[in-house]
Amino acid sequence: MKALILTCALLTLSLQAGAADKGLTEEQMGLSKTSVNVDPDPATFEYRQADPSTSGVLPRAFSGAPPQVPHGIEDFIPITRDSNTCVSCHQQPDQIGKKKVKGEPTPLPATHYTDVKNNALHMGRYNCTQCHTPQANVNPLVGNTFKRK
Ligand code: HEC
Ligand code: HEC
Repeated sequence: MKALILTCALLTLSLQAGAADKGLTEEQMGLSKTSVNVDPDPATFEYRQADPSTSGVLPRAFSGAPPQVPHGIEDFIPITRDSNTCVSCHQQPDQIGKKKVKGEPTPLPATHYTDVKNNALHMGRYNCTQCHTPQANVNPLVGNTFKRK
């Protein structure tokens, strides 16, 4: 008899626990304001098409952040093992530390080389677009409260 009462008590407890745990609704899942089942069909956008000679540069997000690509890159990708157009303009070890000239490619910094004097690019930096991304003028889907100090 005692065992039966205990079993009943445990069963009631577990049923109550189940009722309290309703789980998330479709609207509460993810960062989207709508149900995860709604396909929002966002407007199409275009990356900046600016020519490097006139693009200027974009503000840096914070000190040490990889600068965003200010010019169009469609003509310069894909980056493959045998062809990397980015380095043909940006790999200029002689220009490191010299005054930046507007319209001239910002030279790859010393951090991107294993040996600057011998012009040896660090292969971990070969795939430029892994860190440097082109930009488009779109409103972020989710706001960002990060502030540069
Ligand atoms: C035809 C030459 C050329 C090619 C090819 C080129 N760039 Fe550039 N890039 C420039 C010039 C010129 C600027 C700087 C414009 C200025 O300062 O007015 C620049 C600026 C940049 C900057 C911003 C630097 C800063 O100081 O903020 C990044 C990042 C960059 N390029 C990345 C790339 C990547 C990645 C590729 C390949 C997908 C690439 N570039 C290919 C000429 C080129
Ligand atoms: C693993 C990430 C990574 C890769 C890959 C990478 N970069 Fe960078 N890059 C950075 C970061 C981070 C900075 C800023 C800090 C620094 O100077 O090292 C930077 C800085 C730069 C700058 C600005 C230099 C200056 O004087 O302010 C240029 C130009 C640049 N990178 C171009 C390139 C190009 C072109 C490639 C491909 C050959 C490339 N990077 C590959 C992360 C990367």
